[in-house]
Amino acid sequence: MTTDFQSWASQRQIAIETFLNARLPAVDCVPVRLHQAMRYSILDGGKRVRPLLAFAAGELSQADETRVTVVAAAVELIHGYSLVHDDMPCMDNDVLRRGKPTCHVEFDEATALLTGDSLQTLAFELLAERKLSDNAETQLAMIKQLASASGSRGMAGGQAFDLDNVGRMLTLPELEFMHIHKTGALIRAAVMLGAHCSNVLNAAQLEKLDHFAKCVGLAFQVVDDVLDAEASTATLGKTAGKDAENNKPTYVSILGIREARALAEKLQYDADQVLHEFGEAAIRLRQVTDFIIKRKF
Ligand code: IPE
Ligand code: IPE
Ligand code: MG
Ligand code: MG
Ligand code: MG
Repeated sequence: MTTDFQSWASQRQIAIETFLNARLPAVDCVPVRLHQAMRYSILDGGKRVRPLLAFAAGELSQADETRVTVVAAAVELIHGYSLVHDDMPCMDNDVLRRGKPTCHVEFDEATALLTGDSLQTLAFELLAERKLSDNAETQLAMIKQLASASGSRGMAGGQAFDLDNVGRMLTLPELEFMHIHKTGALIRAAVMLGAHCSNVLNAAQLEKLDHFAKCVGLAFQVVDDVLDAEASTATLGKTAGKDAENNKPTYVSILGIREARALAEKLQYDADQVLHEFGEAAIRLRQVTDFIIKRKF
């Protein structure tokens, strides 16, 4: 990973942190406990991979960075909500997230439920409160895209499929269906929302970008499955080995670590091929993809 990429990424991670810090209700704002839990769950943690993808796609489409910051923050809020709920006892029952006690452990279950709800609605407030595209219809389509990616035909649906299949041996197409929904949908939305902040790309180019995002979205969860099996709790900042403990079907349980890694690399190759026609303009997208595949946490 080049220093150049690291400094590009850290500038954008800071921009997202600053934006979210300013936009989340203050800790002394009533109801205090809920606002504390929202800030606790979102600020000062996470790799911010989805925002980085939105920024990289925004660079490809020469979009205004202020607009991209807003859509990147909205996607990160949905992601944060999904993590708070994913960790609850009724789902994965995890006690550690981003190196800290999970939201329901630090606060309580009802607060965690409401934190997820409130982060989700704040994401849509952000998308609706200012101009993010020169074309009002495009902005409506962006709001719809984030909603579809988050709901029962997207992330929440993938999570339902995940829970329904605990202890089952899934086929590869079923496993792919699960991962494309629970993780891929939001990653796809991050890329497309970033690109839609400008109207420079034509329909064929947007379709290519969407294909790229599908490959990266699936690869992201394949790597997450591998890391759950391979990495330590200290490195991950979340409990390692949780998938096996919870009897989850994953790419590791079905293919084994080596084949799962090989699949992630194949998906990176496919993603890279799709970006070919964009040449140098897609450099950041390639770099973020490389980070996603090679990351250690
Ligand atoms: C973890 O996502 C949950 C999945 C969708 C696999 P990340 O690995 O992006 O988590 P943070 O945001 O960096 O904590
Ligand atoms: C989570 O998948 C996907 C979402 C939160 C939508 P995991 O359950 O594998 O995520 P981690 O490993 O707990 O971060
Ligand atoms: Mg889960
Ligand atoms: Mg989990
Ligand atoms: Mg996982």
